[in-house]
Amino acid sequence: MTSDDDDRHRRLVAAANPRRANSADAAQLARLFTAAFLNDPVFDWIARRGPRRAAGLERFFFWLLQMRAIPYGEVWMSADGGVATAWLPPDVPASPGGFWEQMRLVPMFWRLCGIPRLTRGSAMSEAMDRNHPHERHYYLSFIGVAPRLQGLGLGSALLDATLARIDETGVPAYLENSNPKNTRLYERYGFVRRKNISPPGAPPLIAMWRGARPRALVFQGSSSLSQ
Ligand SMILES: CC(C)(COP(=O)(O)OP(=O)(O)OC[C@H]1O[C@@H](n2cnc3c(N)ncnc32)[C@H](O)[C@@H]1OP(=O)(O)O)[C@@H](O)C(=O)NCCC(=O)NCCS
Repeated sequence: MTSDDDDRHRRLVAAANPRRANSADAAQLARLFTAAFLNDPVFDWIARRGPRRAAGLERFFFWLLQMRAIPYGEVWMSADGGVATAWLPPDVPASPGGFWEQMRLVPMFWRLCGIPRLTRGSAMSEAMDRNHPHERHYYLSFIGVAPRLQGLGLGSALLDATLARIDETGVPAYLENSNPKNTRLYERYGFVRRKNISPPGAPPLIAMWRGARPRALVFQGSSSLSQ
């Protein structure tokens, strides 16, 4: 085995045995998601262009992780930080509610989108809210792999581990797919396309649903999550 094979093997094992992220991980994971989503088609449409995009994304992801996702305990990462996923458990609102909370977020969205694209950001988030399922579910808010490690199986390994845990709860899962390159991956894990929910003029954002797995079909003790 070459040292590249060794490295890949170590990273796959770490992704298949993830740990729960805590608030001390938020900055590192915000950088990971920023790198992963820098050229994502949907972010490319809503986020400002040019050198300030990365800083806007990083601030957005830091807020999302620190305030909205990590506190609910379903953000999982490989110990080496190569891959992470932010799930929101059932009954957690998919977006921040209330006028004042939304007002507080305006500066962050201004930094992310820039003034000319603020209306795009708002149209996208309104479309996501309007189409969000009412049935109880786990919501795959984000999953990201460091760009140089993509295509090596890390995203699959982490999806597999976290879905095994979700299957033990007997609850469905939902995501919005922002890149057609990912469709086959999600379909392999049982997500089914529902519809394109993106606003007019935007790249596709495909709502995908994965029904609850009958408990009898779930291998007991299959979850390999460490906490
Ligand atoms: C999507 C993502 C999490 C998949 O993780 P990964 O470790 O790269 O993917 P894996 O090696 O486990 O699986 C490969 C599958 O991922 C998909 N894929 C998406 N982007 C890819 C990329 N840059 N390189 C290779 N595969 C990619 C393909 O569907 C591929 O399936 P195929 O083998 O049938 O073509 C990762 O590529 C990523 O972070 N992409 C950028 C951010 C993103 O799109 N996140 C999801 C938003 S909905």
